[in-house]
Amino acid sequence: MRIARDLPTLRAEAARLGPLALVPTMGALHAGHLALVAAARREAAAMGGAVAASIFVNPLQFGPQEDLARYPRDEAGDLAALEAAGCDLAWLPGVEAMYPPGHGTAIEVAGPSEGWEGAARPGHFRGVATVCAKLFLQTGARVALFGEKDWQQLQVVRRMARDLDLPVRIIGYPTVREADGLAMSSRNRFLSGEERAKASALHAALQGVAQALAAGVPATAALAEMRSGLAAQGFAVDYLALVEPETLRETAALPGRLIAAARLGTVRLLDNIAAG
Ligand code: PAJ
Repeated sequence: MRIARDLPTLRAEAARLGPLALVPTMGALHAGHLALVAAARREAAAMGGAVAASIFVNPLQFGPQEDLARYPRDEAGDLAALEAAGCDLAWLPGVEAMYPPGHGTAIEVAGPSEGWEGAARPGHFRGVATVCAKLFLQTGARVALFGEKDWQQLQVVRRMARDLDLPVRIIGYPTVREADGLAMSSRNRFLSGEERAKASALHAALQGVAQALAAGVPATAALAEMRSGLAAQGFAVDYLALVEPETLRETAALPGRLIAAARLGTVRLLDNIAAG
């Protein structure tokens, strides 16, 4: 596996490797990220190209109250995991390489970025869209893979690629879960033993709502019941909603996407599933 830490090296490696399937990450890699790399391998094989993964903890997508410094970092472990997963090129820009002094351009995606995570984390999707556009242009990737785990992010990136006519195909990959249903996340390591035991209730609640909707229970009633059920189990529910899958607008109609964010202690858990 080649490692690039500056743009000239990245561009030289990319030119040598042919069409790239890119997996953007912030590191602290787990089985969810590595499943994206495996899917990228299949895409790369189909187009006679190679797999690239980026590791960059993007300061632009963290709010002032969010602890950028607390974000887990394990470069050596991540590089070993990427190599074992069949990645051909790791792109590890420093903050100065990504945002040179004077950097002043940002991408604002209206529509799917509004509400939910966009409301809870002002500026977050501006940071995500800006870094993803840069990663696509830096690598020249022909396809890029994103997890459905971050459903709203996937829709924001798709919208941006479409709106800016970026020559990259965005592929969504299903959420990889622990045996009890908890969506894998680098934040899960911050759960206490007791919180970890409770955490799978979020996915169970989403499944419960999906079943109720399928049985004809009205969305408002099904959602209200699950919200209070989660609260009773000690979750602070930021939102639990049924939305149109692409626009993220709230809906009562199926098919939709059930999206949720809830806190257990200091850890904010996100999850979503298809409904209908
Ligand atoms: P990060 O949280 O590191 O996630 C990188 C990619 O892995 C994202 O596409 C995310 O949706 C996916 N992912 C995370 N957990 C997953 C799981 N359990 N199953 C499947 N996919 C999963 O998301 C980001 O980084 C950043 O916002 C980024 C897109 C890299 C821009 O900075």
